[in-house]
Amino acid sequence: MVPSPSGSAYNIAFTRLQKHYMAPSLFDWFAPCPRGLEAPLVAELAEIGERHVAGAPLFGGGALDVGTQVPGGVHFRGGWVAGIAANLHSRIASRVLLKIAQGPYRNENDIYELTHRQRWEQWFTPSQTMRVDLTAIKSPVKSLEFTTLRVKDAVCDRLRDLSGARPSIDTAQPDVRVFVFLTMNECTLYLDTSGEPLFKRGWRLDKGAAPLRENLAAGILRLTGWTPGVPLFDPMCGSGTFLAEAAQTALDIAPGIGRCFGFEKLKPFHAGMWQKLKGAALEAKRAARQKENIDIFGSDISGDMLDKARANLSRAGIHDLPLKQLDARNMTPLTEAPGILVVNSPYGERIEVRGRGPRGEIRETSRSRREDDGEAFARAQPNPTDIEFFVSFGNALKQRFPGWRAYVLTSDRKLPGMMRLRESTKTLLFNGTLECRLFRFDLVAGSMRNRPTGE
Ligand SMILES: C[S@@+](CC[C@H](N)C(=O)[O-])C[C@H]1O[C@@H](n2cnc3c(N)ncnc32)[C@H](O)[C@@H]1O
Repeated sequence: MVPSPSGSAYNIAFTRLQKHYMAPSLFDWFAPCPRGLEAPLVAELAEIGERHVAGAPLFGGGALDVGTQVPGGVHFRGGWVAGIAANLHSRIASRVLLKIAQGPYRNENDIYELTHRQRWEQWFTPSQTMRVDLTAIKSPVKSLEFTTLRVKDAVCDRLRDLSGARPSIDTAQPDVRVFVFLTMNECTLYLDTSGEPLFKRGWRLDKGAAPLRENLAAGILRLTGWTPGVPLFDPMCGSGTFLAEAAQTALDIAPGIGRCFGFEKLKPFHAGMWQKLKGAALEAKRAARQKENIDIFGSDISGDMLDKARANLSRAGIHDLPLKQLDARNMTPLTEAPGILVVNSPYGERIEVRGRGPRGEIRETSRSRREDDGEAFARAQPNPTDIEFFVSFGNALKQRFPGWRAYVLTSDRKLPGMMRLRESTKTLLFNGTLECRLFRFDLVAGSMRNRPTGE
């Protein structure tokens, strides 16, 4: 039967269309990110709003209005398209969370009640699996674990009361994730729309001993002020994270083009809308192949790492990027125009500096200690061969890279001293839980700037 304007099929279709294209509801969203990258994320979200939401064809345009930044994330407001576009295009956000409710609480029962009142049935069904994650700052609740269980019970009880069935819990690969954020007296409930964290782009299958998270790399690139067209060089590129993030940016390849998202499993998911946004991103990726000479270069002392970088770059849609096996102490610029050098230097607890030591011996061992153990590293003393390496690395920068800006990410505060360089700025960042600094060095021909520093 052909649906008529008064028929129910028509009405359902029209309501869906209206919901998604014509009169989109506005939601509050929160995009968490690595601490230290909130300001770059604000700038990125504003760009996504302008490029991918305001102009989104068919969806009535709409907007992504960037709100306040708080330690560890940025709030924004917008329709369903805004959330989907943020998932697909943000390089810096770790996730995109949809705010479901916020309310005062004094104890676990208040949190249960608040959760139970929400219309979870609008978002998913009891046949789907779920997990609950909870973060708290100065919360008076006695047990975070118990509170997490109460939230899970409230969601399950609500769905069971309505349909007779409860969702099962799957902590490894849930269909749906509920996030709870508690302050001293306020509880906020979010529904995750990302699924796997957004730094998992889908292209980095080959890793070294100490890879950098993709969203941290992307945020650092923004902090350096690098923009496509400016030469970029990573002389210790490892698995190629900086290179892939920069090259995808230069070629306009969306970071999320090769992965799935949590929103695809939620009830309001609209395949047509998603295909439209994804189709535009796929088109941009196809066009990327025609662009040449993006002036992004990498090298590493390890041939194995370069093989991994090549495989990763190819999966990320980047081909023919110049990579060279080279000791960073012998590096030279590959462009006449100065640019930006960015490096996640090998550091104590994660990977050892390799190359020839002072007596000419080759060091090839990696000494991985427990990942993310910042404290252990803070106590660790640099070994003399590492010092020798960083002195030579600093000399290479001073002598061969005049006019360049160099950025070194490290958890070793003494690195500038070891490099015999004075940093212009240092920015506190976190690689997972590992406390790091991003040191900036302005390399001036003939002499080094000696500016006072501040965090
Ligand atoms: C911390 S890892 C870099 C990780 C990289 N950013 C990534 O995301 O995979 C440090 C890299 O420095 C390289 N390396 C160590 N000693 C080196 C040297 N003397 N010259 C050039 N590269 C070196 C290692 O092979 C390793 O790939």
